[in-house]
Amino acid sequence: MAKKRILSGMRPTGKLHLGHYVGALENWIKLQNEYNSFHLIADYHVLTTDLNTDEIYHNSIEMVIDWLASGLDPDKSPFFRQSQIKEHAELNLLFSMLITKARLERNPTLKEQIRDLNIDNIIFGHLGYPVLQSADILLYKGNAVPVGEDQVPHVEITREIARKFNNQYGEVFPEPEPLLTKFARLPGLDGDAKMSKSLNNTILLSDKPDIVQQKLRKAVTDPLKVRKNDPGRPEVCLVFTYHNRFNPGEVKEIEAGCRSGELGCVECKTKCTKMINEFLEPIIDRRMKLENDLSKVKDILVDGEKRAKDVAVSTMDDVHKAMKMG
Ligand code: TRP
Repeated sequence: MAKKRILSGMRPTGKLHLGHYVGALENWIKLQNEYNSFHLIADYHVLTTDLNTDEIYHNSIEMVIDWLASGLDPDKSPFFRQSQIKEHAELNLLFSMLITKARLERNPTLKEQIRDLNIDNIIFGHLGYPVLQSADILLYKGNAVPVGEDQVPHVEITREIARKFNNQYGEVFPEPEPLLTKFARLPGLDGDAKMSKSLNNTILLSDKPDIVQQKLRKAVTDPLKVRKNDPGRPEVCLVFTYHNRFNPGEVKEIEAGCRSGELGCVECKTKCTKMINEFLEPIIDRRMKLENDLSKVKDILVDGEKRAKDVAVSTMDDVHKAMKMG
């Protein structure tokens, strides 16, 4: 039986951080062997919140470098920019006829953004964000989409659009399932629930050891553990979450030491820094090689865009036939 298809995507906002790795990339890397994967660079989606396009190409290349350095294999799965495959725009238009404005206004992810970004007058394209995302997924007939919690409503909208199309014009699209990531969220260095570029609380995959050390030194810990020998509460400490993920071998000991007060925050952070740096070392090595061979990185995109285009054209043939608009 043919392998199932996955469509995974990220907005190109520049260099990636540990939250991207833990929340998405790690899963993509695992899944690339089990599924036929497509890795989309959502450069149109960036426009919903930032109209300045000066850095979009540069940011896309930085993201591709991080993908490659982390272990995504472009021979297995094409990497491509949404903007280079016009079929995304066409399918977006057709799908925009299959969903109501009221349904899009009920999208909880959109409501959150409107609140967080203080938007008082939403643009048409932003309201339609999940419609374009549905086109991204269904253009490749994705059966599954690896996402974090916040994107699940968009996959639900994708399923509704697929169902509506199939009922109206005949069976063309699968109804994709969300594949949730286990460690969906890594807390930020300031204690926020989420590591995020806009909150400036990240450790980048490209951060050198001394930068990681500086960043962790300033990281927030349990506010009740003031002195070294005060007992601490690992469950409220973001550094402990990092140990959990990057230092599984020592995590029991660290938890006990923190609770008893034997282990101070400085020493705990030193251990954490060491493990994160060990984790990042091979990624940084590979990144440096790629930075010195940018033409190779660009060729990977050109090649991926060709391969993705073939699939997109073939799906649009099916769409045109089903709609009798061939
Ligand atoms: N909305 C996704 C995000 O912000 C990015 C994205 C765009 C995407 N198109 C997609 C994710 C298609 C999965 C599938 O993270």
